Amino acid sequence: MADRARVAILISGRGSNMAALIYAARADDCPYEIALVTGDKPDAPGLSLARAEGIDILRLDDKSLGATYWKALQEALDAARIDTIALAGFMRIIPTDFVARWAGRMVNIHPSLLPRHPGLRSHDAVLAAGETTTGATVHLVSDQVDSGAILGQVEVAVLPGDTADSLATRVLIAEHQLYPRILSEFVTRERDPDWIVAKVGGLALALPETRFKTSHGAPGWKVGSPSSDKFFAIMWLSHHGEESTAVLLKTSGQDEMAQLIAAEPDLYFRPAYYGPSDWIGLRLDRAGVGWDHVAEWLSRSWQTTAPPRLTRLLRVADEF
Ligand code: GRF
Repeated sequence: MADRARVAILISGRGSNMAALIYAARADDCPYEIALVTGDKPDAPGLSLARAEGIDILRLDDKSLGATYWKALQEALDAARIDTIALAGFMRIIPTDFVARWAGRMVNIHPSLLPRHPGLRSHDAVLAAGETTTGATVHLVSDQVDSGAILGQVEVAVLPGDTADSLATRVLIAEHQLYPRILSEFVTRERDPDWIVAKVGGLALALPETRFKTSHGAPGWKVGSPSSDKFFAIMWLSHHGEESTAVLLKTSGQDEMAQLIAAEPDLYFRPAYYGPSDWIGLRLDRAGVGWDHVAEWLSRSWQTTAPPRLTRLLRVADEF
């Protein structure tokens, strides 16, 4: 599969979930590839396994390194052009600035049916609570431990006589089924045109005095008062024979447009159907779309299009 999402796995130990993710990625139609395995313990057994399987690894050491460790990790992730981080038995509390930087792009697996039994020793907690069902959860990583949005779960029965160990062994089998499936769904959902339109819409409508309107059937967003509003963003959804999902945005003119397309022809294109206009196409159906970059573009296009009374307000706000 071309253009797979580039995933980094962070581990602290044996890495059996890591192995499940690596082996699932060997299928031709798997939408992700494991581009890096690293963690906080240079001698974690999982790292040697990953290396033996031909995956790039990095033996980082977190012994009291604090900020230096997180900086080195970020550099490695940037160098490997990582789109998504999958935590798999990574035993570090992650600093808030790192979580914020990877918001919406970092997932974790936890051996319980969250929100029940977060934190360590979840199997003991399940048995102590007398539960008859437990399971595993893949979730987005947020500031609070084991509490980000749930992406998928699998149930596992608790049997009479189960111990924490016997339960852990069975839940682990379920984890290995769940994680590759949910990670695949997660990285492909960002290619789904409906998801992309909703995402662009959220960013566009966060700008002042904007509204949704279709333009020749395509979702679009306008700025200004209802009597004189203008489009500042229009979706380009695989039409006129071109298989792509993109957003059209206003540039400053033909020169800028030509420069952008020459510099990054995979990212920008001239929407032929619009003739010699100032609209440029920004492709969104690629792995690792930089949504901050899209938000900046929407804001720029908004500023190019909005009436002076609105852009004046924005400039005043910027000065504070
Ligand atoms: C798994 O149970 C996972 O749910 C939890 O840590 C354990 C890691 O095991 N977060 P492994 O290293 O993947 O074998």
